[in-house]
Formats: sequence, structure tokens, C-alpha cells
Amino acid sequence: MRLKLFSTCFLLAFVAGCGSRDENRNVIVPTADEKRGISLRIDADPTLYKEASNDISDILYGIFLEDINHALDGGMYAELFKNRSFEFGKDADRANYHGWIVSGEDIDFTVFHDNEPIDPVDTPIVNASPLNPYNLHYARITFKSGSWAGIGNRGFLKGLAVEAGNEYRFSAFLKAPETASAPNVRIQLRNTNGDVFAEMFLGGISDEWQMYEGILIPTETVTENLRLFIEIDSGALYMDMISLKPVETFKGTVIRKDIGEYLEALKPGFIRFPGGCVVEGRCLETIYNWKDSIGNGRRVIINGKEKTGDITVRPQGSSIWRGSGSDPYYTTHGFGFYEFFLLCELFGSEPVPVLNAGMTCEIQSPKYIVFGMDSDEFKQAVQDALDLVEFARGDPDTYWGKVRADMGHEEPFHLRYIAIGNEQWQREYFAHYRAFVEAFDRAALEKPELFADLEFIIANGAISRDRMGWHHVSDYPDQWTTLVDEHYYEPPEWFFANTTRYDSYKRNAGAGVFLGEYAAKSNTMVAALAEAAYMTGLERNSDIVRLASYAPLFGNSRSTQWTPNLIWFCQLTVHGSVNYYVQKMFSQNLGVSILKSELDLPEPEISNSLEIAPRLLYETVSIAENGDVIIKLVNPGEADVAVDIKLENLDLNNYLEAVVTVLQGEALTHANNFVTPDKITPVTSNIDVTQEFTYVVPGFSVNVVRLKYRN
Ligand code: AHR
Repeated sequence: MRLKLFSTCFLLAFVAGCGSRDENRNVIVPTADEKRGISLRIDADPTLYKEASNDISDILYGIFLEDINHALDGGMYAELFKNRSFEFGKDADRANYHGWIVSGEDIDFTVFHDNEPIDPVDTPIVNASPLNPYNLHYARITFKSGSWAGIGNRGFLKGLAVEAGNEYRFSAFLKAPETASAPNVRIQLRNTNGDVFAEMFLGGISDEWQMYEGILIPTETVTENLRLFIEIDSGALYMDMISLKPVETFKGTVIRKDIGEYLEALKPGFIRFPGGCVVEGRCLETIYNWKDSIGNGRRVIINGKEKTGDITVRPQGSSIWRGSGSDPYYTTHGFGFYEFFLLCELFGSEPVPVLNAGMTCEIQSPKYIVFGMDSDEFKQAVQDALDLVEFARGDPDTYWGKVRADMGHEEPFHLRYIAIGNEQWQREYFAHYRAFVEAFDRAALEKPELFADLEFIIANGAISRDRMGWHHVSDYPDQWTTLVDEHYYEPPEWFFANTTRYDSYKRNAGAGVFLGEYAAKSNTMVAALAEAAYMTGLERNSDIVRLASYAPLFGNSRSTQWTPNLIWFCQLTVHGSVNYYVQKMFSQNLGVSILKSELDLPEPEISNSLEIAPRLLYETVSIAENGDVIIKLVNPGEADVAVDIKLENLDLNNYLEAVVTVLQGEALTHANNFVTPDKITPVTSNIDVTQEFTYVVPGFSVNVVRLKYRN
């Protein structure tokens, strides 16, 4: 007897029937021999898929960008200096002095808050004023004797690292107590042995804060024990906002070039930002405030030029992901909401901002705080949400629209979705959610051009069984909710067993699915296979699953709050996990409609000894906008599986060859890592296509067979 699996939405009832079998965790036993006699019939009759209207969301695969694992500061954001503005606090070893060491034999190094010295306490109050009223900490070095002396910064995580021949821009706000006695300033890239890799000098330092900058080109690639020193030969020097960044960033953004390229390759349909728990915060101070991330639209004069929302007026944030004393977690907001919208624009991705719903994180808060509905804090949270829309879409004659224009983006940013809250399930959350949407309804009546066509995403708890968001949608059918934000982190077996989860979701539930966070809890091949198998189910059900993003996006080699992650980085390198390549293959091969397909599989062999997946193969077939036919096949077993592919209602004159991309591991436990970052990466080749052809799906592999359309 044979088991037929149909991959199309108009056969839901049948597939849902298979779903129960999926749950029983019976498994295929892989054998070393190739399996044969399996067929995949594909019916490309356009009337079938057009009538079935089983369209795939064109933004189905996106990314979830949260500042966890130093994803932003110390990671994607190209700044190399840690505690560059002396604002770090009690979470950091040595607090405001964190990350800085003194050089030279006799130097006084003091950090001030306004004009009060912070340890060492015997330093007198000074008359100097801070850089601006929003950036109150700065440092002073005072030369006492000897030769050059000053301070050095050791950078984020494993330390500062530079590449030979690359240009790095040093900049700093400096001032001397008196111009007449201003010291000479020496900037050096130097290791702890005293070897110098780049050097520059600054002179004529003013007694007013000025920004000074210059380019350093290291003579060698250095990854260990490197510091950037700022030293003087006499007198004293005040300094703030010290920066070292590679001149070449990703397409001129504030993003590290190599990391930006990894993101771009994902072709993200959307970007969910900034969290996650980051949005919720663990206390009032750690709730993410989008206005802080654009410096609250404040204006400052820098070297005679007015700037709006500049990094110098962005208050330091303190992350819910606390890090350790040696790697504390503060954020400069160097990548804030303005940069988020710019990145979405650059990638053509839909922005999906997530806003605090008026409560802290129930899981991580030592004291869970819910703003009363009538409290000023809650009213402000709602107002902040409305203001975000004005910031993105308002004309420059609106308050926040002008802030955006003054920051450099005259034209509105595209914005359609707003997510209220993250992993919420509490009764009070749903009351808050309703109040947000009602406020937007009122705003839409007043200013339809700004608010009328927004779509809202409701939270749904934190695990796969949670249904609270869905209950709300059915209890309040008149309230506009577009998507329900599901999150789940489950083992690979769960993903294999639940590939039909969405087959049985009601099509008329009143909202679609936003799978905002998911992962098969490992960066090994088995998890990547499980996610790929599961994604065939997302794609097949994309009439209701509109957006899906793996989480978290970034991990680093030193301070990790969460694992597994999609992309891993250290100072100079970045690599994709196997899971990354699955996301990339699926995203780069996104069709517009699911084609009717029928996989003819043998009855599964049963084993209790090896639990991997209840099916021999997982598949989905779609057609792309340009006519390409895209076959995705996932083989979770060890044995190769030969599939006889039969193409029906397809004019083969237009499809002579296929591009085949295969991601294959030798074992389920294999993974990419910092030592062998490219152990498992996709390999592409070409094959000829005939009306019927056999494609051998290698063991432990994810495959995209893309039949190329040509006129
Ligand atoms: O993705 C990491 C965290 O997992 C997110 O911040 C949170 O939403 C979830 O619990």
C-alpha cells in the first residue's frame, strides 16, 4: 500500500488527516541504500492554481532583528569602541571607566558627570561643561610627566581587531582647557607589547568641543591585545564620543560590511525590530523607547552644522539582555529606528516595528509592571505608537515628519504593520491592545491619510500551544487585527511532526499568522532539516501564514544570551549556520503560487530506535513570477531517495534545464562553527529537464530544483 501526500491547499481535508499520523512519532528508518520507486507528480495547469488562489505571501520570509547576543552594539553596528561616551553604568566592571585603560607612567584619567568627577574621588569639580545636555559624561586626561600618556580602549567582546590595509575612521569630540596651552594629541593603534600598527596626530585643539577626525590604515591584521590609544604630551584634554569605524561599511550604512552582506543574501521580505523581550524591558528603564533611538529628535550643532537626532543626543539604553560585568549590555542606539527604516528601504523589506504594550516582561522582570489604563505612562505608550507612524509617514509639516526630514529623509518611509507587544498572554495585555487599536481608530478618523490603512499584529504568548491572541480575534471580530504573532522554540522532532500545523487552521478566522519567532533549538543539521521540512508547510499554507522569521538572528563568539542563532560573528569574521542556509535557499526561491503536487510515498517503516521524522520526504512546489517552477525537497533520512518527477501541463519547450541547489550534511549532528564555518553550505549545479526525470534527493539534505523558464 502507498501513501499519497498532496501538496496543495484545496486538498486540506486529506492532508489534515495525515496530520494525526504525524503526531504519533513513528519514524522512517534510514538505510544506506538508495530508496526508489517514489514519484512526485506536478500539475502546472494555471487554472488550478489561479482558481485555488493559493498565493504565497511575497514577504513570507523575513528577519527578526533584536539586540540580543550583542547583535547591534559590538556586532552589526560598525562602531568598534565600547563605552565610547563613558556612559556605561553599574552593570559594567569599573562602570563609567569600563573598557578603558591608562597608558604612560603618570597620567590622571577622570570621568565626569556634568562637572562632578566620578571616582577617583579626590579629583576636584571642574568648570568644563559636557558635550551637550543629553550626554553628560566625558573624560579628562591630565599629563603629569614622562613622554606621551593617555588612555586606550579595548573594544567589544574579544577585543578590538583590524585588518591590514583597510581604512578606519577615528573621530572624537575633544577640547583643551585653554587653546593656548592645548596639548598635541597622538592616536595610535598599538598592542600590549607596544607594537604600533597605525598612527596619527592632532593639533590646535580648541577650548570648545569640536569633532576631530582622521583615517588610520593598519599595517597588519591584528586580532589580539589591540588598543586604540589617545595620548597627549602636555597639559590636559577633555574627550567624548570617541569612535573607530571601518570607512567601508555595508552600502554606506552604519552596518558592518560583511554582516550586511549576510543579511542582504537572505532577501528579507520584512524586518521585525527591535524585539523581542528588548521591547518589553525588565524594568521601566529597560523598556525600549523608539524616540530615544532617534535622539528624541533633538537638534545639536556639530562643528557649525545643525544635526537632528544625532548619535551624540541619543541616550544610552540599558538592555534587558544583561550580559556580564566584562561584557555588559548597554546600547548606544547607533542603530535605531531611523536606521531601521533606512535598512528596510535599502532591502525593499516591509518594516515590522514592535512596540511596548504598556507593561514589562512577565518572564524576565523581577517585578512585573503593568501601566494602569489611565496612567500617564500608558497614555504616553499609546502616544508613542501614534508618533511612530507620524515619524515614518508624516509630511515634513508634521512634528515627527519634520524630525525625519531633518535627519535626512524628506520622503516618508513605507510603513504598514505595527505589532503591539511581544510575548504577551495576560488579560491586561488584551485590554491594552484594544486601547491601542481604538486610539488608532480615532486617529484614522481625524487623519485618514496617516492612519487609515495600518495593520495590527497581536501577541499570542510564548509557546506553540498558546492561543490567546486567536481567542481575542474571535472575541472581537470587529476590531481590526491583521496578524497573530505566534512564537515557538521546539526540538527538531516537533517541527518534523507538525509540518501540517497550518493545514487545518481556519481560513476565515479573521486574521492571518505572523510566525514572529521560531527555531528547532539547535544549529546542527537535524534542526536545519526540521526547519526546512516545516517551511514547506509554511509555504503551502502561505495563504494564511503571511510572515515568518527565525529567531534569534545573531550570535557572537564571546557573550551569548541565547543559542542557537542564525548568523554567528566575531570581530573580523561572520558565518552562517546550517539553519541560515535553509532560510536563504527558501527566501531566494520564493514562488508566487503553490502548484498542485502529489508525492507518492511508501508506507513508513516503523522504528523505535531512531526518531528523526515521520516522513521519508517533505516537499512543496511553486511557480515564480517569471514562470520558473520551484521544487523544494527535504530528505531527513540517511539514505538517498530517488524521486521520479512527472511534469504535467507544462510546455517543456520552455523548461529545458533546472538549477539545483543542495544543502547536505554528512551527519545529523554536523554544524558550521568558527573553526569550520563553511562545512555545510549549498552547492549549485545544472541538470537537464524532461517531462519525466529522476532526481536523487541525497540523504540529510535540503534541495531546491528550479526549472528555468525561457521564452
Ligand atoms: O528570540 C529571543 C527571545 O525569545 C525574544 O526576545 C523573546 O521574544 C523570546 O522569548
